[in-house]
Amino acid sequence: MNIVITGGSKGLGKAIAEKFGEDKQGHGIFLCARNEETLKAFAMDLQARFPRTNVQHFAADLSVQEEVTAFAEWIKQQEVTVDILVNNAGQFIPGSVHNEPEGVLEQLMAANLFSAYDLTRALLPAMMEARRGHIFNMCSIASLQAYANGGAYSISKFALAGFSQNLREEMKPYNIKVTTVYPGAAYTDSWAGSGVDPKRLMEAGDIASMIYTAAFLSPQACVEEIILRPQLGDL
Ligand SMILES: NC(=O)c1ccc[n+]([C@@H]2O[C@H](COP(=O)([O-])OP(=O)(O)OC[C@H]3O[C@@H](n4cnc5c(N)ncnc54)[C@H](OP(=O)(O)O)[C@@H]3O)[C@@H](O)[C@H]2O)c1
Repeated sequence: MNIVITGGSKGLGKAIAEKFGEDKQGHGIFLCARNEETLKAFAMDLQARFPRTNVQHFAADLSVQEEVTAFAEWIKQQEVTVDILVNNAGQFIPGSVHNEPEGVLEQLMAANLFSAYDLTRALLPAMMEARRGHIFNMCSIASLQAYANGGAYSISKFALAGFSQNLREEMKPYNIKVTTVYPGAAYTDSWAGSGVDPKRLMEAGDIASMIYTAAFLSPQACVEEIILRPQLGDL
């Protein structure tokens, strides 16, 4: 299978790439993130650990529409049919509507919603023609649950969930599955320096395992939603 993972150099995206990388079958894994150095280092590491896998990478800032187009064009040049698209790239900035800085909503809508919307629209025509595929959209518990420090992040993740649910309805006749993933707190770089005990949070691999499992059900089954929380609940 050919799997495109955005935000594939760290955290959840990295764990998802590792999970598919471990597969004996050997997949094509296409990774994207902004920082070329970190991305290349992880892509090379993954390729070395899992030689059956074909790992490729492309650095792009998916909050910028032109860079989404460049990434999508690069995918098309690989001459592969995308089987799985994981729209995972995203940014977390805590804040509240009443006092967060000007422009944060625009920035987070671009990073968390437009990135997924634009990339999906660019890759969908070929997937629709192939009449197969699976799209995972990395939302958040903050897509479901309003909270006082949610602000623009939570708003952008509610919007991403709306995108994902609409896409699910649209793609039914095209045989393309859409899964909306709502993770609670999982220990990644987003949490580094927060002082929170990693053992209180989920592991990135927990989310990766659920995505991997959902990707291998029978063609007639679609996992529409995955909701995961730390055992002790939200923080
Ligand atoms: N960890 C959690 O507790 C949690 C909970 C719920 C939802 N989520 C969601 O899960 C996703 C991944 O989070 P994470 O915790 O794994 O974050 P992370 O450790 O900070 O990793 C984010 C990844 O996305 C890339 N990225 C960020 N902005 C990008 C952009 N504009 N264009 C392209 N790549 C970009 C990063 O690389 P560069 O910095 O090099 O671009 C990195 O590879 C996010 O959408 C987040 O909102 C996370």
